[in-house]
Amino acid sequence: MRIIAAVDSSWGIGAHGELLVSIPEDMKLFREETMGKTIIMGRKTYEKVYGLHPLVGRKAIVLTKKKDFKPLHEGDIVAFSVDEVLELTKELSDEECYVCGGESIYKAFLPYCNSADITKIDYKYQADRHMPDLDSDGDWHITAESEEKTYFNLIYSFIRYERKKK
Ligand SMILES: NC(=O)c1ccc[n+]([C@@H]2O[C@H](COP(=O)([O-])OP(=O)(O)OC[C@H]3O[C@@H](n4cnc5c(N)ncnc54)[C@H](OP(=O)(O)O)[C@@H]3O)[C@@H](O)[C@H]2O)c1
Repeated sequence: MRIIAAVDSSWGIGAHGELLVSIPEDMKLFREETMGKTIIMGRKTYEKVYGLHPLVGRKAIVLTKKKDFKPLHEGDIVAFSVDEVLELTKELSDEECYVCGGESIYKAFLPYCNSADITKIDYKYQADRHMPDLDSDGDWHITAESEEKTYFNLIYSFIRYERKKK
């Protein structure tokens, strides 16, 4: 499994149920990376994203504890536990299965992920949701990094983290 996320300088990912910022090139990367893949989301992120538009071309697995939850898009799968998701994705390679947030999902699936595509924004927002800080996690290291990019006055870059080999 692979994490995909956009984080601020404190690994913040969201506030008040929304993204911190929407950077077109980051959205494009998300679309390209996840197209044709399985994507795993928490119910809150799923409802927010799908309230705007379904992520067509991808197979979504949404996690909820609500037993009566109905998927918002035909073909999406509802799962009720981390173990159920692991069972559903056990045949997939890391590249075929993306963990797409929010906070609760990044935390729950981090132990099962071997790589992470992080859009790192050089700015600290007032975030109320975060993902685990991979810079201070000794199990992870950076293996690739884009040049610095800008979006108006924001500076950001695309960084690949990988779990260190034992
Ligand atoms: N920057 C980024 O890349 C990025 C990406 C995605 C999301 N976000 C942000 O993250 C924030 C949302 O994160 P969040 O943590 O509040 O919500 P979330 O992870 O999207 O969804 C939380 C919900 O997922 C379900 N869930 C979580 N763990 C579960 C488990 N083990 N078993 C069954 N169901 C489980 C529960 O649904 P029920 O309540 O239905 O039981 C829970 O309320 C938003 O601000 C969003 O914009 C940022």
